[in-house]
Amino acid sequence: MRLLIVGSLNGYVSAAAKIAINHGAKVSHVPEIDAGLESLRSGKGADLIMVDLKLDIVKFITALKNERIATPVVACGVNPDPDRAAEAIHAGAKEYITLPPDPELIAAVLQAVTRDDLHVIHNDLKTKQILTFAARIAPSEANILITGESGTGKEIMAHFIHQQSKRSERPFISLNCAAIPENLLESELFGHEKGSFTGAIARRIGKFEEASGGTLLLDEITEMHPRLQAKLLRAVQERIIDRVGGTTPIRIDIRIIATSNRNMLEAVKAQEFREDLYFRLNVVNIHMPSLRERPGDIEPLTNYFIQKYCELNQVATKKISSAALKCLHANDWPGNVRELENSIHRAVLMAQDDTIIPEDIFGINGPAQIDTSGSAPILVGRKVSEVERELILHTLDHCLGNRTHAANILGISIRTLRNKLKEYLDPNVSSSQL
Ligand SMILES: Nc1ncnc2c1ncn2[C@@H]1O[C@H](COP(=O)(O)OP(=O)(O)OP(=O)(O)O)[C@@H](O)[C@H]1O
Ligand SMILES: [Mg+2]
Repeated sequence: MRLLIVGSLNGYVSAAAKIAINHGAKVSHVPEIDAGLESLRSGKGADLIMVDLKLDIVKFITALKNERIATPVVACGVNPDPDRAAEAIHAGAKEYITLPPDPELIAAVLQAVTRDDLHVIHNDLKTKQILTFAARIAPSEANILITGESGTGKEIMAHFIHQQSKRSERPFISLNCAAIPENLLESELFGHEKGSFTGAIARRIGKFEEASGGTLLLDEITEMHPRLQAKLLRAVQERIIDRVGGTTPIRIDIRIIATSNRNMLEAVKAQEFREDLYFRLNVVNIHMPSLRERPGDIEPLTNYFIQKYCELNQVATKKISSAALKCLHANDWPGNVRELENSIHRAVLMAQDDTIIPEDIFGINGPAQIDTSGSAPILVGRKVSEVERELILHTLDHCLGNRTHAANILGISIRTLRNKLKEYLDPNVSSSQL
């Protein structure tokens, strides 16, 4: 995880950097917007940018847009001028952070774009076999396709392979093909030359070159536009890329790992994904089974997540009751490990004492699961806004008023949460006005 800080943050640069470094980030700092743009173009890369609200953030974000650089931006300021903060968010900043930097808030923002901890926790025989296989093929140069349902740990497996490979000292760069619009994605992957499109005022190095000597993870590859698939095929086949608008082909030295949570063969059949590219990427296939198919992983994962979230939330460690463990085994986990992780996070915050009981885990999802009599939740006939309000207030309650935690659990930004709360306090104001 690489964080770029732009501006002086009112003298809080080292405080913010320290917090980020403690969370495993590599931090670089530039004083001005132009230097920030220069750094991003040069291929040094960043996964997140924190920008001083005193600088012209709108100009900065507009430049990023024009130059097709898709790195998320967070605005930082002291005692904010609400208009400027709103302006920054409007321009496309993802979040607003007040200074002095709050460690918790920074951790939450970093966590949203990164993963700090990469152990593949397991105990199921199936997972063991997969890891043994992955470790065996990791040192080879073969391209790898990792498939599996959402939340099964495809990304964590890609990291594992990189770490076990001969390239482990070199960069691991990942790119989510589904999250970036097509015209940005091309620039993001291959970079571009000055003048190649309106807005390309300077050369920009793309992920392929950034990952040089290392591993490039192309996440959710099935979502890539067919036109880009053709370009990717060339890169994969010939190990050569062209920057957008470039005339000199550039030799690349990377290993490609791609992931997909769709059935790739079906995508090929439906002519959404090129068959030749599929075969090139699928030199080795690793399929991550759903959590249901590897029940032996549930207990170690649960204990691991309990410890992780107790530490993160600075609460004394807890244990899981045998009844709760039974419920975890009986559950279907359509969202797989990610869903288990979120449920345990919530349970850690909900638990009233040092033991996690079934209600702590399943309670907030709806009365049906709290209600052991098995009757259906009475949601039909109620307004979405009403249920939403109840959910938000209830979650906040259980987080002892901690908005960062509540927003994390609810899966919304801290800003959205704040706006909703304002709206509840003053029903005359709608959240879109805030
Ligand atoms: N074996 C594991 N040990 C520890 N954490 C895990 C494990 N598997 C998954 N996780 C955690 O579960 C979450 C989802 O994992 P990951 O992002 O790798 O899944 P994914 O298959 O890439 O999901 P998606 O298809 O939605 O992108 C992450 O927070 C990850 O850290
Ligand atoms: Mg993923």
